[in-house]
Amino acid sequence: MEVLTIMERGKFQLFKIILGVLSCALLMAMSASADVTLPKPTTNGGEGIFDLIQRRASGARDNFPKGAISDEELSTILWAATGINRGRSDKAWTIPTAGGLPPYVEVYAVKNDGVYLYDWKAHALTTVSDKNALGDITNDSFVKESPVVLILVSDTANLGAMGRLNEGNALAYIATGAMSQNIYLAADTLGISTRYMVSMNTDGVKRELKLTSDGTPLCVLPLGKR
Ligand SMILES: Cc1cc2nc3c(=O)[nH]c(=O)nc-3n(C[C@H](O)[C@H](O)[C@H](O)COP(=O)(O)O)c2cc1C
Repeated sequence: MEVLTIMERGKFQLFKIILGVLSCALLMAMSASADVTLPKPTTNGGEGIFDLIQRRASGARDNFPKGAISDEELSTILWAATGINRGRSDKAWTIPTAGGLPPYVEVYAVKNDGVYLYDWKAHALTTVSDKNALGDITNDSFVKESPVVLILVSDTANLGAMGRLNEGNALAYIATGAMSQNIYLAADTLGISTRYMVSMNTDGVKRELKLTSDGTPLCVLPLGKR
C-alpha cells in the first residue's frame, strides 16, 4: 500500500514537471513574436489631468524638439496609447473599443535603428526591420529628425465581423482619436512633444511597415523631448 502511495506521488511529481514544461513552451510560443522587451511603463502619478488638458498643444512644426526618448518613456507612451489597464489582460485597455474588441488600430514605432510593432498583449515590441526608415515615411524634415515616430495603422482584419459595419473605417478613426489624445497627454507629462499628422509618404509607410492590403496608415506622431 505504502509502495503504491510512493509510486502515485512519483507520478504526480512527473505530471507537475510535464505541466510546467508545457506551460513554459506555451508562454514562449505566445510571446515568440515580440522580441524586444520594454521596461515597465509608468502607470500612475504624472501631472494632474486638468493641467494637462489645459495646456494640450501640438509640437510646433518649425521648432519641434529633437531630444532623445528613453525606453522607459517610449514604454509609457505606448502603454498609454493602447496598453492593458485595470489589471486585466482579457478586456481592458487604456482606450475604449467597439464591442470591447481587442485594439484594432496598431501602433508602430519608427526609430533610427529599426521599425517596431507594439504588442500590447506582451507589452513588448516586435521587430519589423532593422533599417532606418525615417527618411522614407515622410517628406517633413522635422519628422525625419525625430528620435521616434509613432504610426497608427488600422487593420481591418482585427475588426472581424465588425469590419462590415465599419464603412469609412469609422471605428478605426474613433480609436485613433482616443489613442492619439492619450499619447499627447502622456507624452506631455514626460516633457515630450508630439503632433498628430495625416501627411506622410503613404507608399513609403506601407513598404517600411510591411503592411498587408488590410493595413491603412492613419496618422504619424513624431515624438521629441523638450
Ligand atoms: C485630423 C488632423 C490632421 C492633422 N494633420 C496634420 C498634418 O498633416 N501636418 C501637420 O503639420 N499637422 C497636422 N495636424 C495638426 C494640426 O495642424 C494642429 O493640431 C492644429 O494646428 C491645432 O494646433 P494644436 O494641436 O496645437 O491646438 C493635424 C491635426 C488633426 C486633428
